Amino acid sequence: KINAVIFDMDGVISNTVPLHFEVNKKVADEVEIAYTTEWNQQLQGLSRRETVKQIVEKSGKQLTIEEFDQLCEKKNTYYRTLLESLTVSDAQPGMPSFIKSLYEMGMPMVVASASQNASFVLSQLDLLQYFKAVVDVTKLKKGKPDPEIFLKAASLAGVNSDECVAIEDGEPGLTGILQTDMYSVGIGQEEHLKRANAHFLSTQELTIPSLESKLNEKNM
Ligand code: G6P
Ligand code: MG
Repeated sequence: KINAVIFDMDGVISNTVPLHFEVNKKVADEVEIAYTTEWNQQLQGLSRRETVKQIVEKSGKQLTIEEFDQLCEKKNTYYRTLLESLTVSDAQPGMPSFIKSLYEMGMPMVVASASQNASFVLSQLDLLQYFKAVVDVTKLKKGKPDPEIFLKAASLAGVNSDECVAIEDGEPGLTGILQTDMYSVGIGQEEHLKRANAHFLSTQELTIPSLESKLNEKNM
């Protein structure tokens, strides 16, 4: 029986992956390396520092700790400016109604995003009030692909991990969920998402009936 739903945010709830692309590209420009949408996709779910670290490492540039910290800060300042213009229309297709329906059913929902801007993004989308909690990533020992963030989300929902559905679009995030006994849902076009217990090509396809039918298949 499912007693909680755990959501990744960027690319699942909010259409913010292109914004991360824009900001990450700025970081790549600073260290003079080309940035691609494919690479951006692979970095989804990693923390801000880990993202900057991977971009800088690939460029071969040597930064001092101060320069590295400044780059992380610059990235976030720029990202925050982009987030200011986020509105309810920046939710992923179908997700506001999916979330509201679950809320009306009394289903506890928790956000497991690596973003320190998660609560702000959700408030811009006018969806924050439907969630029981947003995991505080600054308090975690390890980021995705470690399962810690999802296990923390289950405990914040007040349920056991085998009672959770966890929804992801990113490679590190799904890898984390697959190390737990949660029912995993992968959303998107990429091949790696087929590793999930249920796979949907877009958020539009993720509805309560479509999810229930996948869950019933599993129990047959
Ligand atoms: C999410 C995104 C990543 C981003 C990370 C940190 O996981 O998918 O692309 O790097 O959050 O976001 P932040 O808002 O804290 O910089
Ligand atoms: Mg994501």
